[in-house]
Amino acid sequence: MKNYEKKRAKNNRTTFVAEEEISDLKKHLLSKSSKNTSPLNKIINLSMEDGIGLVEDNSVDLLFLDPPYNLTKDYGNNTFKQTKQSKYESIFENWFLLLLPKLKTTASIYVCCDWKTSQAIFNVLKRHVIVQNRITWEREKGRGAKSNWKNCSEDVWFATLSSDYIFNVDAVKLKRKVIAPYRVNGEAKDWQHEAGQKFRLTHPSNLWTDITIPFWSMPENTDHPTQKPEKLVAKTILASTNENDLVLDPFIGSGTTAVVAKKLGRKYIGIELNEEYCCLAEKRLTMADESPDIQGYKDGVFWERNSLSDQK
Ligand SMILES: C[S@@+](CC[C@H](N)C(=O)[O-])C[C@H]1O[C@@H](n2cnc3c(N)ncnc32)[C@H](O)[C@@H]1O
Repeated sequence: MKNYEKKRAKNNRTTFVAEEEISDLKKHLLSKSSKNTSPLNKIINLSMEDGIGLVEDNSVDLLFLDPPYNLTKDYGNNTFKQTKQSKYESIFENWFLLLLPKLKTTASIYVCCDWKTSQAIFNVLKRHVIVQNRITWEREKGRGAKSNWKNCSEDVWFATLSSDYIFNVDAVKLKRKVIAPYRVNGEAKDWQHEAGQKFRLTHPSNLWTDITIPFWSMPENTDHPTQKPEKLVAKTILASTNENDLVLDPFIGSGTTAVVAKKLGRKYIGIELNEEYCCLAEKRLTMADESPDIQGYKDGVFWERNSLSDQK
């Protein structure tokens, strides 16, 4: 069944592409015949191996990589088949080597993975770039297991090409309710009163517990099987780029990275093999003009999970 044929509940806010929208959305995509067209702020509907040639060398400030994990997964017109860890490492390395020349020497790289692929990704990164950190984020959803721990986390490796890189720490602070407000000489220690509540702004760590996986009542939700939350991508873009910098995502799926880059005033280039996902990305990019909000990010800070009613 096509995604636009699915029956959805009235309050289901999932974004999907209707059949009659496809031909208009397709007109915005770049493809094989787009050799002399600038890929800036475009989605390229090709494999990354074919599409990467359209991207200028030394032009990218941030590479966001969310490749197929080493799991058998159906992406509509392409299926990634689980393989040996060593084979996955070499597949990832081949992709990575095509991307490296596109990066500025000041660029940052983020690579998403699960615990099974994390080591293979690390092995490749440490051979070619400087690994700065491993972020682990709590993936609230996840299947319960009878004879194992429920898998509820994923990793994002953070690497740079040199020691000269951007890190805007003040742009990615976390706003949390204070549970035990500490005072010195009667004065609040590192927290503020706001609308009768007590809040603290904290430095971001490499353990992210404030991320919500998109679900059916959120307009950022799509039918893409492995869509990343906008809030997660926003943290990487705000920390590691300045306005107008260029963000590249060669496995852009439903368009999350491009949408967030646009909402935050950055340039983007996305590459994706599946035409339906590319159209979804284009539709979300249009929607971003009307609703530039990023759920969980308000007034320049990231709010803890389930705090929507406090974000006034
Ligand atoms: C993990 S998903 C990315 C999801 C994306 N971050 C999002 O938020 O929607 C990986 C994507 O890579 C695409 N893909 C797989 N192999 C590819 C290739 N060789 N070149 C370009 N895209 C590819 C798949 O169709 C899939 O949409």
